[in-house]
Amino acid sequence: MRWMDYEKPIIGLAPMADFTDLPFCRLIRECGAQQTVIFREMVSAEALVRGNKKTLKSLDIHASERPVVQQLFGSDPQAMAEAALIVEKRVKPEGLDINMGCPVHKAVSNFNGASLMREPDKASQIIRAMKSAVSVPLSVKTRLGWSRPDEILKFAKSVEDAGADALEVHGRTKDQGYAGRADWQMVGRVVKEVKIPVLVNGDIVDTQTAQQALVVSGAAGLLIGRGALGHPWIFQEISASLSGHGTLEQPSIQQKMAYLRRHAELQIEHYGQNGLIKLRKHFPWYFKGIPGFRQFRAQAVRITTLNELEELIETIGRT
Ligand SMILES: Cc1cc2nc3c(=O)[nH]c(=O)nc-3n(C[C@H](O)[C@H](O)[C@H](O)COP(=O)(O)O)c2cc1C
Repeated sequence: MRWMDYEKPIIGLAPMADFTDLPFCRLIRECGAQQTVIFREMVSAEALVRGNKKTLKSLDIHASERPVVQQLFGSDPQAMAEAALIVEKRVKPEGLDINMGCPVHKAVSNFNGASLMREPDKASQIIRAMKSAVSVPLSVKTRLGWSRPDEILKFAKSVEDAGADALEVHGRTKDQGYAGRADWQMVGRVVKEVKIPVLVNGDIVDTQTAQQALVVSGAAGLLIGRGALGHPWIFQEISASLSGHGTLEQPSIQQKMAYLRRHAELQIEHYGQNGLIKLRKHFPWYFKGIPGFRQFRAQAVRITTLNELEELIETIGRT
């Protein structure tokens, strides 16, 4: 995969820790997202270098998920390069990505994630070290800045100069967290600043917002995060609308529950029976907007078998 040559607009699933794992990404693909670039959740470079078995296992890719971009986080250029090589050799993803935007304390207190925006030299060293270690395309995912939204303009240029092949920008600063609205216009200024493809990210939740984000930013593509949770068919909807094939009909509650059931099967296939426990964090997203969803959510967190889930799905289907 080459970012420059990828069919535009590029549509991608944003990386989400604990969510964009193998089963969920398989489901996304099964829901008709053929062209979508799948960004798998961030993985610690240090843990990979230490040979942490659970982290190594989390890299596994099912053939149907490809093209897959694996995101890494870390702050030491050497460890990041070593980790990139481990990933490339082990699972051969179509791309690698560096997390330079994560605002959570655990990440920034170790001087990675969003704090790399405040250390552009370190960020460039990481990119250069990784580029010389691997041959797959390397992208960077970041925010508009630490506290000021225009910090990105200089930072984007330095990321490009260091050799990044693409840049994904969540239109908020680190200080904003998830407050306010994503500023797609500022992402548009980044698009003008660099030659590499820029993907706009933040608050894209349906076909209208996808179109608006692309028009306002002029970006080469977009990434969707929370809009895909409990909504794995969103990429098919958006691709159809962006390619002029009109608006797809919204799935019925029964169809939504069929996706949830399939998600559960994929979870069990990958994680064993523990997969249902791991599925619990997805329930609120699947039940959002369904009448009586609070009651279903409370019932769902007690579910330990596929039979119990099927019973609940049947009850929901009758509403
Ligand atoms: C639960 C959750 C986990 C996330 N994990 C990551 C991650 O691993 N790496 C990353 O770069 N961004 C992560 N993000 C940020 C998203 O990729 C995305 O930038 C952000 O949610 C804004 O996009 P959205 O409005 O489409 O959700 C995460 C977001 C959420 C909600």
